[in-house]
Amino acid sequence: MYEQFVEVVETVCVLTVIGLGVWEISADRMTLGQLLAFAAFIGYLNPPVRNLGQLGLTLTAATAGAQRLNEILDAEPSVADPTAPVRAWPVRGWVGFHGVSFRYPGATRESLDDVTFTAAPGELVLVTGASGAGKSTLSKVLTRFYDPSAGVITLDGVPLPDVPLDFLREQIALLPQETLILNDTIRENIECGSPGATDADIERVARSAAAHAFITALPEAYDTRIALGTATLSGGQLKRITIARAMLRAAPVLILDEPTAGLDSVAARQIVQPLRRLMSSRTTIMITHDLSLAPDADRILVVDEGRLVEAGSHAELVARGGMYARLAGPVPRVLEGRAEDTLVLRV
Ligand SMILES: Nc1ncnc2c1ncn2[C@@H]1O[C@H](COP(=O)(O)OP(=O)(O)OP(=O)(O)O)[C@@H](O)[C@H]1O
Ligand SMILES: [Mg+2]
Repeated sequence: MYEQFVEVVETVCVLTVIGLGVWEISADRMTLGQLLAFAAFIGYLNPPVRNLGQLGLTLTAATAGAQRLNEILDAEPSVADPTAPVRAWPVRGWVGFHGVSFRYPGATRESLDDVTFTAAPGELVLVTGASGAGKSTLSKVLTRFYDPSAGVITLDGVPLPDVPLDFLREQIALLPQETLILNDTIRENIECGSPGATDADIERVARSAAAHAFITALPEAYDTRIALGTATLSGGQLKRITIARAMLRAAPVLILDEPTAGLDSVAARQIVQPLRRLMSSRTTIMITHDLSLAPDADRILVVDEGRLVEAGSHAELVARGGMYARLAGPVPRVLEGRAEDTLVLRV
């Protein structure tokens, strides 16, 4: 409305100037040349006056934006830095969950219910269970995106609330289940795992994540700009870029949430080898439905409705014949024989 109003005022002014001018000329008080010169000068004055009018609009929009920003800046995070933090120490990577329960704000039931386990440096702990069981929630409380409602989580025996947040998150490399892609080049997307990494390091991890080949096939290779939702790369390719990013981070604790989801079995196998090498020196918590790594895991935790229902090695759990044996058993091929055609695409 404001802009339309300005337009109308402008048109009325132009009409008034011409009208008055014609009047003055007909009364012989002015020449046509004078009217034209006057109109030309008014024309010069128009843009600055118009901009001044726009300023009001811009200010209103900016004030509204600033108010929203302030709301975000003023919000108190539910997870706070400790008031008396422990001093930084060379972290080994012992992770301990002791009777941890957690319920999401506003949720009706616990997403974690009295979970207790430990993971030692160099160990591969595999977490599996049905969808919605609470597996990703484990990674969220360990990185302190949320604090548990009961129980304690420790890193090298130190309760997490006593560890400075920045320091804690430096010690953990997290590959989240949702692919997080920054609106930037592929190089920047990998480098943000460890700012300041050299090009050689970036290429090394990209090779390990089976990403180098498809990156170099792009016209701008590592300088290609990517963003979620654009068609430059497929979902599985973006996933491999995030795996490279996690590999670049030399953190003592590595959490991988569904690292092979969305990858075909060949690509999954390609990245599993380097992942194994990466895991050898760190505490690795791998959340997955893909149980092909299970025989190598030091311990397997089976989560069901927030509770830890089974824990042990692959052989122990299969022998037990419980939930894990069902999950790891042969998958019924419900569709086999019913599809009319199977198409294999090769590009
Ligand atoms: N932000 C949230 N707010 C409220 N409830 C949530 C939130 N995130 C998850 N939940 C609930 O917590 C439970 C556990 O979720 P979680 O994401 O940990 O499952 P998951 O085991 O990782 O499942 P999946 O295998 O499908 O990834 C689910 O019942 C879910 O509905
Ligand atoms: Mg999950």
